[in-house]
Amino acid sequence: MHIDKNTVAIVTGGGSGLGEAVARALSAQGVKVAIFDINLDGMQKVAKDINALAVKCDVTSEQSVKSAIDEVKNKLGIPRICANFAGILGGGKIVGRNGPMALEEFTKVVNINLVGTFNVMRLVMAEMMTLEPTLDTKERGVIINTSSICAYEGQIGQVAYSASKGGVAGMTLPLAREMAPYGIRVVALAPGTFETPMIKAASDKVRDGMLSSAVFPHRFGEPNELASFVLHIIDNPMLNGSVLRIDGGMRMPPK
Ligand SMILES: NC(=O)c1ccc[n+]([C@@H]2O[C@H](COP(=O)([O-])OP(=O)(O)OC[C@H]3O[C@@H](n4cnc5c(N)ncnc54)[C@H](O)[C@@H]3O)[C@@H](O)[C@H]2O)c1
Repeated sequence: MHIDKNTVAIVTGGGSGLGEAVARALSAQGVKVAIFDINLDGMQKVAKDINALAVKCDVTSEQSVKSAIDEVKNKLGIPRICANFAGILGGGKIVGRNGPMALEEFTKVVNINLVGTFNVMRLVMAEMMTLEPTLDTKERGVIINTSSICAYEGQIGQVAYSASKGGVAGMTLPLAREMAPYGIRVVALAPGTFETPMIKAASDKVRDGMLSSAVFPHRFGEPNELASFVLHIIDNPMLNGSVLRIDGGMRMPPK
């Protein structure tokens, strides 16, 4: 799909890390970008830099997402691109030193990463379906969700995160199929490890464990390397229904 100054994109989690890099890359292509985040400072700084719309939005809340989408519709128009990056890491063993993991720890991660992604998608898709198809590729829109290689190779202590990202991966094909009659593509990213505030916050031990299995390049990815992949996904109509790894060959070890 060709993108230009008439294209509207929502980027959740765009106040930091991968979402920020994607918001910046889209804006550099002239796209009108709306950032949905709960991190006010982060998103306002990014939005100011790239002249984007910053909307305070908790992806887990129906009301918050509904009113954020209304604001986008009123100020920018109906989005043709929705890139879902809002997420949290949240670690812990199912039975740790202090006993079984608190159920709320598990549900919190799943609620933000999986249910939040679903919540944004369902409300955005209903709007996208009303758009006219693009002239070039006859598409109404593209949804890009963020899974993780943890959907497949979760480490010890990543049970909640892996469950949430496995859920995001699993939604990809059924939704691509459901949305096919409307010309809306659904793709998920499965990033390896990228140098963002989320990863910078991990301990040296955790970072070394992750890096140990990077094949080439033997380093963490740069957010702009992921952002350029997102631009290609938007451009290439054959990318649909798949979970796409971008990981430098990384296969994470058990710990
Ligand atoms: N960095 C990596 O190596 C990596 C690898 C695989 C997957 N991912 C995924 O990529 C996405 C972005 O990660 P990142 O590394 O950029 O992290 P990050 O912490 O830098 O950014 C995440 C953003 O999501 C926002 N957010 C959290 N909860 C929210 C909520 N309820 N509503 C709205 N916004 C919310 C945060 O405020 C933050 O701005 C996440 O889904 C993460 O799981 C990251």
